Amino acid sequence: MKIDALKKVCVAGAGQMGRQIALTIALHGYDVYLTDSVPAALAQTDTWSRDYLDGRVSKGKMTSEQADAARARFHLVPTLQQAAAGSQIVIEAILEDREIKRSFYFELGGIVGEDTILASNSSYMVSSLFQDCVKTPSRLANMHFFNPALVLKLVEVVKGEHTAPDTVELIVEFAKKIGKTPIRVNREIDGFVVNRVLRAIRDEAYFLVEEGVCTPEDLDIGVELGLNHPMGPFRLLDLTGIDLNYMSMEQRWKDTGIKPHGYDIAKQMYESHLWGRKTGKGFYTYGET
Ligand SMILES: NC(=O)c1ccc[n+]([C@@H]2O[C@H](COP(=O)([O-])OP(=O)(O)OC[C@H]3O[C@@H](n4cnc5c(N)ncnc54)[C@H](O)[C@@H]3O)[C@@H](O)[C@H]2O)c1
Repeated sequence: MKIDALKKVCVAGAGQMGRQIALTIALHGYDVYLTDSVPAALAQTDTWSRDYLDGRVSKGKMTSEQADAARARFHLVPTLQQAAAGSQIVIEAILEDREIKRSFYFELGGIVGEDTILASNSSYMVSSLFQDCVKTPSRLANMHFFNPALVLKLVEVVKGEHTAPDTVELIVEFAKKIGKTPIRVNREIDGFVVNRVLRAIRDEAYFLVEEGVCTPEDLDIGVELGLNHPMGPFRLLDLTGIDLNYMSMEQRWKDTGIKPHGYDIAKQMYESHLWGRKTGKGFYTYGET
């Protein structure tokens, strides 16, 4: 497939990442078909996308013609069959659960053509975990966006041993077409590049809070004002979701046998539904979301 032949893109998972990825794609001139296994997620996404586009128009960031054109290219469909059939690229942004993702790839393998690029947005699961679920593993890779995907420019394109070099190049070209700046990650490594650096910072931050050295709020202020990071690690955790953080810590503990710093804090917050912005409270409290 040549990038100029790209006509239809499928995004699976209309959560906080999938819907922003899909709208970014529509805003850059491609027809995108977004699906989710939960009908309410599609209904919420419909309202959210209308509010977002109206907001951009009223702030003067976009003309109403541009917003209407994006809206017309942004298709919400209830089944994977409708979303993926005939797509040249499928971006998977569904729940971070290995078995759920594996069943998803099995289903997808029965729908798409052999040349379709299959790109997982997973932050922590490398695409080789799904290579036996699809017909053409050479077309499978990670395409990792950052949150909020409508704003942040970076995309990590991760090559597994099974991934063909031209698959990586197509994803790199596609990322550029939708206004992103891709970096190539030449082999599968846990956490890829950026989250490894982030993890080192987060581990130290949790360690300092667990040890009672400072509060999460003061640690964030220290990192924001002392290192000039736009957000401290705890504010960022509220944005990306404590639920995701807790699940990835559980997996890491299982994989390494070492209990990660902050596990008890994240577990307690997870069980109390303090998941960050998405539930209105995490390390900080938020207004209506
Ligand atoms: N949250 C972040 O900051 C972030 C950043 C980069 C990458 N990611 C990755 O993106 C993916 C999604 O994360 P999120 O934060 O958007 O999660 P989320 O929980 O907000 O959304 C996941 C969506 O997937 C849907 N879903 C579950 N199973 C499905 C299936 N079989 N088919 C279709 N839809 C299904 C759920 O109904 C939900 O709407 C994960 O793999 C995560 O690692 C997340």
